[in-house]
Amino acid sequence: MTITSIIIFGASGDLTRRKLIPALFHQYQRKKLPEQIRIVGVSRTKYSHDDFRDELKEHAKEFVKKLDEDNWAEFAKNIYYCPSDAAKIEEYDELQANLEEIEGGEANRLYYLSVAPFLYAPIIQNLGEAGMNKENGGWRRIIIEKPFGTDLESAKELNKVVHNTFQEDQVYRIDHYLGKETAQNILFFRFANTIFEPVWSRNYIDNVQITVAETVDVGTRADYYDKAGVLRDMFQNHILQLLMLVAMEPPASFNATALRNEKVKVLQSIRPVANGEAIFAQYADYRKAKGVAEKSVTPTYAAVKLQIDNWRWKGVPFYLRSGKALKNKVTKIVVEFKSPPHMLFKNAVGKPGGRNILSLCIQPDEGIHLQFEAKVPGEQAFRTAELQFHYSDAFSEPTGDAYERLILDAIEGDAALFTRSDEIEAAWALFDPIIARSEHNHGTAPFTYQRGSMGPLQADEFIAEDGRVWRKSG
Ligand code: BG6
Repeated sequence: MTITSIIIFGASGDLTRRKLIPALFHQYQRKKLPEQIRIVGVSRTKYSHDDFRDELKEHAKEFVKKLDEDNWAEFAKNIYYCPSDAAKIEEYDELQANLEEIEGGEANRLYYLSVAPFLYAPIIQNLGEAGMNKENGGWRRIIIEKPFGTDLESAKELNKVVHNTFQEDQVYRIDHYLGKETAQNILFFRFANTIFEPVWSRNYIDNVQITVAETVDVGTRADYYDKAGVLRDMFQNHILQLLMLVAMEPPASFNATALRNEKVKVLQSIRPVANGEAIFAQYADYRKAKGVAEKSVTPTYAAVKLQIDNWRWKGVPFYLRSGKALKNKVTKIVVEFKSPPHMLFKNAVGKPGGRNILSLCIQPDEGIHLQFEAKVPGEQAFRTAELQFHYSDAFSEPTGDAYERLILDAIEGDAALFTRSDEIEAAWALFDPIIARSEHNHGTAPFTYQRGSMGPLQADEFIAEDGRVWRKSG
């Protein structure tokens, strides 16, 4: 039986301990990993195999729910470590020899780049130069973490480097939002049911709102975040991914090519964002955070209006907003339907009402809510009622972490939930001008908002200009 190796570059990093190893452990427990598996950590620290295992176990106690010691001990037998500076080509002979010894025969290899983004290109080049991209006896695949580039030009450059060494079908660019069960459920909701898709268009939908609110602030990540800002960190990737799932046409089949073709078409149909269709803000004390430039104009919050110029969506605005240091952690897509053409009844609470609101709740309250109007008993008036579906009530299966699914898909060769090169470039092409505007912001500082609020007041004015409000339902 061919061995499968998962070779993690950046093995002593936070992502490895917090996400990758717990995800692999959970899948090992569920017997979803190949029987012959080697998990090999690579980084510069001089660990032995056992040091590495011990260190991972310490972290697993924190990041794995109810760590079973016996199961861990079995799992840990598959973990190895190779000290190596992957940026240096002269270290690759030894790395290759160590890997071959650990594998002890022909092996499939999944390289996982969990390193600082500036190391992506050199490591990929080195893998190529060392011949470690060659599929001799087993397949070769590579997972590349986000961020993939910092703008269109750098993403194109990186794609060139990647394609010099790997074929596109060997490349798995991660956007962990696609690994979330509730994000995938958008497609199941739309395409495994009959009743929603016929109303899923400009004929019945007034607007769509996507909110990704976070309570965390910049924390210890200022070095990265102050250069990235919310547009690069959340919009260009995670929020656009959610938008594509909501807006795409049904694919011919559920395979990577068909799915990603449809997603890219959405991006290609989005109208360039005009002045006034995006606002940017910072939480009040952002500039005081360690590592943030004194006069930083980096937005920690943004609200953006996108228009999709195609037959299904023409005239339906998509309002996107995301920020740090906000009141709640919530990721939600709200689909607001049009009012009935003629209203016969009055609203018992004196508000306009009469609009159905569907909330696809991605996290933390994983589920779906549908608001509708119902007759108030004893009155000729309606009041809003709600149908609710919660994953935790309806299913006994755990939803699991996004990485569990994504790593497994990469091992199985299913790239449907990964970002293709043209998709990533189209996303940058759309966001580059918005980012440029946020960086220059017409010479003025971004707006300010209080920690623990739902963002700047200007975000409410922004949507009110179109005669709409941010829907908080569900
Ligand atoms: C990451 C961003 O990609 O996603 C972080 O870099 C952000 O800034 C995180 O906090 C949000 O992910 P989740 O799964 O917690 O919504």
